Formats: sequence, C-alpha cells, structure tokens
Amino acid sequence: MTDFAGRVAFVTGGASGIGLGVAKAFARQGAVVAIADIREDHLAEAVKSAAADGISLRTYQLDVTDRTAHARIADAVEQDLGAVSIVALNAGIGVLGHIKDATYDDWDWILGVNLGGVINGVRTFVPRMRERRIGGHIMATASMGGLLVADSGGIYSAAKFGVVALMQCLREDLLADGIGVSVLCPAAVNTNIHEHHRMRPQAFAHGGYTQSAEEQAALKRMLAHGMSPDTVGELVVDGMRANELYIMTSGAIAPVVTLRRDALLASLPAEPHDEARWQADLAARRAMEERLQ
Ligand code: NAI
Repeated sequence: MTDFAGRVAFVTGGASGIGLGVAKAFARQGAVVAIADIREDHLAEAVKSAAADGISLRTYQLDVTDRTAHARIADAVEQDLGAVSIVALNAGIGVLGHIKDATYDDWDWILGVNLGGVINGVRTFVPRMRERRIGGHIMATASMGGLLVADSGGIYSAAKFGVVALMQCLREDLLADGIGVSVLCPAAVNTNIHEHHRMRPQAFAHGGYTQSAEEQAALKRMLAHGMSPDTVGELVVDGMRANELYIMTSGAIAPVVTLRRDALLASLPAEPHDEARWQADLAARRAMEERLQ
C-alpha cells in the first residue's frame, strides 16, 4: 500500500508514545486517523498535542482485551469516518520480570494485553478489511524482545514472540487480498512505558512482578535517550510503503542475531540424506499449499 491519503487509519494505544507518533505520521500522509486507548487522560492530552502540530485525531476509549468493545468501537469508527483500511495494533504494556517470579495474574494480564490485544484487533478488523476489497495494511507493535530474549523479558517476550509469529503467518494469509502486513520491533523509544506497572487492573492484583519508585525513575531516565516516537512513526510509514515484514528502529542487535542464528545452525543434527523422507516432506508441503490456494 503506497496511498495513505484519504484512507481511514485506526491505532490502538494511540494516545501516547509510539502509537501517537504513528497516528501523527499517518495523518501527515493525509489519512483520517482514529486513536483508541484505555486511558482517558492520555486521549485528551493526545488531541491537544496533535492539534499543536495541526493534526486532528478522532478518539475512542477502548481496552484492547475487551472483545465486545472492540467490535463496538470498530462499528463506531466505520460509522463516524468510513471503512478502516490501515490498522496499527500497538497497545501494549512493558511489564518485565523473571518467569520464576510470575503469578497467574501476571501471565493473564501481560499476555492478555500484549498478545490477546493483537489477536482481538486482528479478529475484529481483518474480516472487515477483506470484505471491503480496498487493500490496505495492518501492523502490530512487537519489540526487539519479540526477536531476542533477555533474562527479564519473561512473559513480555513470550507475548511479543507470539505477536511476531502471528503477523508473519497473517502476512502470507493476506497476500491474495492485497493487504500488507508488518511487525514493528522497536529498541528503546522515549515514551511513557515506565508507567505501565502502575496500570495493573484490580482483576490481576496478585502479581509477583514489582517495580520500585527508584526503578521506575531509572527506566524513565534511560528511555529519555531513546528514539523519539515521531521518528518511529515516520519509519512505520516508510516500512508500510515498502511492505516490509519487519520494521526495525536500530541496528544494534545485529551481533546478537548472528549469535542466535549460529547457535541454531550449530544445533542441527548432521543427518544422512534420506531421499524417501525428503520426497514425503515435499509432497506434504505441496498438498498443504494446494489446500490453501
Ligand atoms: P506508552 O505508555 O507511551 O503508550 C502505550 C499506550 O497504550 C498508553 O497510552 C496506554 O494507555 C495504552 N494501553 C495500555 N494498555 C492498554 C489496553 N489494555 N487497551 C488500550 N490501550 C492500552 O508506551 P509505548 O512505549 O509507546 O508502548 C507502545 C508499544 O510499544 C507497546 O506495545 C510496547 O510494548 C512497545 N514497545 C515499546 C518500546 C519502548 O522502548 N518504549 C520498545 C519496544 C516495544
């Protein structure tokens, strides 16, 4: 998709940080932009900050874990602005911690927002986009933590790896519909991600993951050196135009990617070639491809 002008775009977690940067970048390309967010205060601030840049955003309150609300908001956006053909499933919570410390409340909250929220967005918007036959593009925000594991990545990384896999499969699925699919895997970006521990809903109160005021302040200081969300927004527009599968913000992980690839290659068993098994695998793959056509 290279034409943003006049299209309707929908961005979750669009009232702050990366989502707001992406929403403003879409608007600069001439798209009509709706942002959805769980936080009313962020929505109000986003409208003000976008207006200061001469950009108008339509706002909707949405918790991305709420499936019924998703469908209701999608209906409302369509009614207010028209058919949505650009979707950015960006809402997420950067709550990190070790797997050994995680409670079921941690698992349900962090997977629910970071992976479940993307699943709900895909389930809500993809059938509508396909039905309309106007092409478009859908992207989700994962993380570098969705490609590489750090010890405290924990549930966050499990969710973001899931987002990467989901979007990669979806990309193949939507080829025939002319709908592009990308996954954004940012490194540090200067956002409000340091506030996420404080957003834990009462329903998931019994967490094993904690963050002291000092840790929160240190994260904020560290992210102040991160990329600006507006720059990320421009990278997302470029990545969508080029229909890139991965939209990255930093080359710094290259050595780690190489290490991981080398470790995987080194772990492959040195099997002798078995022609009969090779042919059987090939036949199975061809049969699957035919079924999908
Ligand atoms: P942010 O806090 O500035 O923006 C996230 C927005 O999502 C907030 O407005 C928040 O209210 C909203 N949100 C949270 N839970 C929600 C829910 N259940 N339903 C709807 N909205 C919800 O943080 P940031 O950093 O812009 O986060 C956006 C995405 O970027 C997340 O998926 C995060 O995991 C990802 N990310 C951020 C990085 C960073 O360094 N800031 C690096 C890698 C990935």
